[in-house]
Amino acid sequence: MLKITKYPGLKYLFKPRSIAVIGASAKPGKIGYEIMDNILSYGFKGELYPINLKEVEILGKKCYKSINDVPGEIDFAIISIPAKYVPEAFEDCGKKGVKSAAIITSGFGEVGDFETENKLVEIAQKYNMPFIGPNIFGIVYAPTNLNASFGPADVKPGKLAFITQSGALGIALMGWTITNKIGLSSIISVGNKAQIGESELLENFLKDDPNTKAILLYVEGLIDGRNSMAIFKEVGLKKPIIALKSGRSQRGAAAAASHTGSLAGSDNIYSTAFKQSGVLRAIDASEAFDWARCITENPRPKGKNVVIITNGGGVGVMATDACEDYNLELYNDQEKLKELFFKPDIMPPFGSTKNPVDITGQGGELAYKKAIEAAFDSKDIHSIVVLYCQTATTNPDLIANYVIDEVRKHQNKKPFVIAGIGGEAVEVMIDKLNENQIPAYDLPEKAISSLSALYRWSDFVEQNEKIVKEKPLKLPVEKIKAIINEVRKEGRIQMLEHEAKEIFKLCGLNVPPFALVHSPEEAAEKAKEVGFPLVMKIVSEDIIHKSDAGGVILGINDIIGAEESFIKIMQNAKAYKPDANIRGIIVANMVPKSTEVIVGVSRDPTFGPVVMFGLGGIYVEIMKDVVFRVAPFSREEARKMVDGIKSKPMLYGARGSKPSDIEALVDTIHIISQLVSQIDDIKELDINPLFAMDSGAVAVDARITLSEK
Ligand code: ACO
Repeated sequence: MLKITKYPGLKYLFKPRSIAVIGASAKPGKIGYEIMDNILSYGFKGELYPINLKEVEILGKKCYKSINDVPGEIDFAIISIPAKYVPEAFEDCGKKGVKSAAIITSGFGEVGDFETENKLVEIAQKYNMPFIGPNIFGIVYAPTNLNASFGPADVKPGKLAFITQSGALGIALMGWTITNKIGLSSIISVGNKAQIGESELLENFLKDDPNTKAILLYVEGLIDGRNSMAIFKEVGLKKPIIALKSGRSQRGAAAAASHTGSLAGSDNIYSTAFKQSGVLRAIDASEAFDWARCITENPRPKGKNVVIITNGGGVGVMATDACEDYNLELYNDQEKLKELFFKPDIMPPFGSTKNPVDITGQGGELAYKKAIEAAFDSKDIHSIVVLYCQTATTNPDLIANYVIDEVRKHQNKKPFVIAGIGGEAVEVMIDKLNENQIPAYDLPEKAISSLSALYRWSDFVEQNEKIVKEKPLKLPVEKIKAIINEVRKEGRIQMLEHEAKEIFKLCGLNVPPFALVHSPEEAAEKAKEVGFPLVMKIVSEDIIHKSDAGGVILGINDIIGAEESFIKIMQNAKAYKPDANIRGIIVANMVPKSTEVIVGVSRDPTFGPVVMFGLGGIYVEIMKDVVFRVAPFSREEARKMVDGIKSKPMLYGARGSKPSDIEALVDTIHIISQLVSQIDDIKELDINPLFAMDSGAVAVDARITLSEK
């Protein structure tokens, strides 16, 4: 399913030996000047060629009127001239043999000019010259001292790659990372993503870049959601990916769509898709960077046991609450905790080892050092959280020094985060720690939330290591398509119930025994085969609401009842809609009432088929207790769906009721996910209700709508 396009030229965006700036300017304040200035001041070591029609020299570098006049080879061209001149200049780049490019210029797809934007893609393909943009602020890659952007000049080098779809926000966040001491390996503005977007950058460079440990995406919309998911998953197993996705509200989504010209898709589905592919979705920029700090500087935890070391009971309680909120487990072996921490050089006799380990307000700098050392040395503790409340008896700077020593000494062998709460001196301490690559925060909740993000990523990797690769289910695709073709031949896209149920039967799903009959005699004959009690339903594409038309009779217990019901339903249907095209009547075995659940499918414009599962009947509308997954997915994922609804206890046998057959539910959801992934014709599908019996799951009603061809 994964489609990978290889762009060998992309590495030159990050590691160019020579750069041309088309539209370089000698006038400070102009974009063409600022890019030149940043390239020079960030210390780029290769050749730099400003291209300008009038100037002789810009910032000490000899100017050329055209890229064709440049004597040497060019690895990377930055284009910053008005939109109408861009195609010609870009074509010249291709002719010159430029290996990669960044088109800064705005005024293409985002304002509706897709024609010119597509032309740029054609040029790029013709000359094998991948490009980022248009409508971007450039690129930064710290390891090669490359700042080819018109953002801030002094980006702090680090291990996080930041890919942003938004220009202005990207520049603002660049500045923010500097103030907040967040190190970046690279910043890539992707703008309209005409050719190169986040997926291409991940696959072609960042995945294997030793200088990048984690990736942060600012996304407004993905272009090929399904393929992006596959790439995120593949890359995310090696390096954590954090996503900041705007457009959570409906109005926000509309604004995002008009901002970048991309399909924003349904936000709910984005959350699901991110989760399925292991991407950590942050709610805002501050959370995203908090997580990034922890994730880039820490190893994967080797176990669940977290210990909190604090000098304040209150913050300890706050952190404990946060651990519960974020599903972190506090190490709870009281004997061992006492053995490790109940020592005179760590805490006074009135300290507590209960975890939070409270060294009390009397605990000094050395007590912190010893406690941290003990936690690092214990094989039973897997992650360390340190909390520090400023006191007059302690020196935050000294604590910072001890923390740096201890973390360095133990070579990052387990995750470590620290939160400092206090005044200016604590702010300085936090900065110092962050500058020394130790994730430090100003609130305990931020430290805990960040550590939990690391755990979530680690769990995702662990689960994937365990999962045995499942082969796609072998479904009788040809037979299914034959049924669909018959429906299409009649010019219909709405399948009738018996047609949908035939497809379900072919897939191995459980449907009540049924037959389509055309006379009272046939009804009587088939009734014996399907078994009493019976339900009989009208089959007509012209009668959607069968019950309203008197087209459904339940609880028929004998042959006479079957014959009479046939006549009655026919009379009702004819009275309801005299010209209705009646195909017959379904005679089906009536399954005993059971817990009703629903399995539904819709197609998302970005992600394709999405499967929904939840409690059925009236609860669907009222409770909205449903979960979604992008199809196809594994059986394990189907199980997570069943376990993911709030009403799960009802399925597992609440208050003495019999538990439902969970395996049968999992199978049904899994098979449906495979069916809609293998058969593109299916646009929507509903099994409502699906009876969750104590043995088996039965699709009592079925609806399939085909796509318009
Ligand atoms: N070859 C060489 N030089 C050229 C050419 C050419 N074909 N065409 C123009 N130039 C020169 C110009 O003479 C000028 O030089 P000068 O300053 O010495 O006069 C320079 O290149 C730039 O051209 P201008 O016509 O002055 O264009 P200007 O700099 O005003 O605008 C720009 C160009 C910046 C690309 C503009 O069209 C644009 O798109 N701006 C928006 C960029 C943007 O916002 N990107 C989006 C992401 S960032 C964000 O959202 C904040």
